Amino acid sequence: MVAELPAELIGQVEQAAQLLQSAKRVCILTGAGISAESGIPTFRDKQTGLWEKFRAEDLASPVAFARDPKLVWSWYQWRRQLVHDKAPNPAHQALAQWQAASSSLGQHITLITQNVDDLHEQAGSDAIHLHGHLWKNRCSQCDSIYEDNAKDKPLDFDEQLITCPHCGGYIRPDIVWFGEALPAAAWQMAEEAAANCDVFMSIGTSSLVYPAAGLAQLAKQNGAKIIEVNPNPTPSTVVDITLAAKAGAVMPVLINQLTDKTDK
Ligand code: OAD
Repeated sequence: MVAELPAELIGQVEQAAQLLQSAKRVCILTGAGISAESGIPTFRDKQTGLWEKFRAEDLASPVAFARDPKLVWSWYQWRRQLVHDKAPNPAHQALAQWQAASSSLGQHITLITQNVDDLHEQAGSDAIHLHGHLWKNRCSQCDSIYEDNAKDKPLDFDEQLITCPHCGGYIRPDIVWFGEALPAAAWQMAEEAAANCDVFMSIGTSSLVYPAAGLAQLAKQNGAKIIEVNPNPTPSTVVDITLAAKAGAVMPVLINQLTDKTDK
């Protein structure tokens, strides 16, 4: 299976597999890049169609929602439409397979994601969501959860604003926007896992958005080795092994190597 990768990557995959094989605690952070091969555009990709002239960073904010709630709600309804029929790709599946095998491998794996899609869960993984969930809504004023699972109504991506039955405030997606705090419990679990791991893997993230991008640094400060999976360079300075390839190509190979070596 290793032979399917470009020659220059094979050595790095083997090194990464060795590192992971001897790790007891592994912390994995995923970003939009892991869902790219499922057909979900990343945040740094230019938007298409009606939304071409907007930047995601300018819509995903409380200021944008306060200024024009209909615009931001419509954008999320469009994103939901884009995402609702997408399925996990081999990278999500490899991680789920690894998590399922972790206790027999004697490993503890914590999977943290910045993604708001549910492709890790669809693949069978448990993931800590740092940036919330695309399929949940809550009130922008009183914070109460709006019990309407948008994914159960895939044909109804209505752009009309909904108001809260308790206070009349506008309903918004339950997503962490730029300038907002991360969910405290999720962040605490992520920090603990990063600070206590032997190997930290960063998969498909630009490492630009903090505090999530700081988890790799926290892991490094506490003695962990860092593996990055990304076909493009990132500003991260703490990486020990870079697997410069698409996650869907490299992750199944890496996980197979790991499992094969452990079986011997
Ligand atoms: P970005 O869109 O910033 O970065 C995606 C990264 O994935 C880039 O570095 C790409 O090179 C890489 N990539 C693309 N295709 C890939 C593939 N097939 N395999 C592996 N990597 C690939 O996404 P994030 O880092 O997740 O926040 O962005 C972080 C946060 O910023 C997001 O959660 C979102 C965003 O604005 C909120 O919505 C709060």
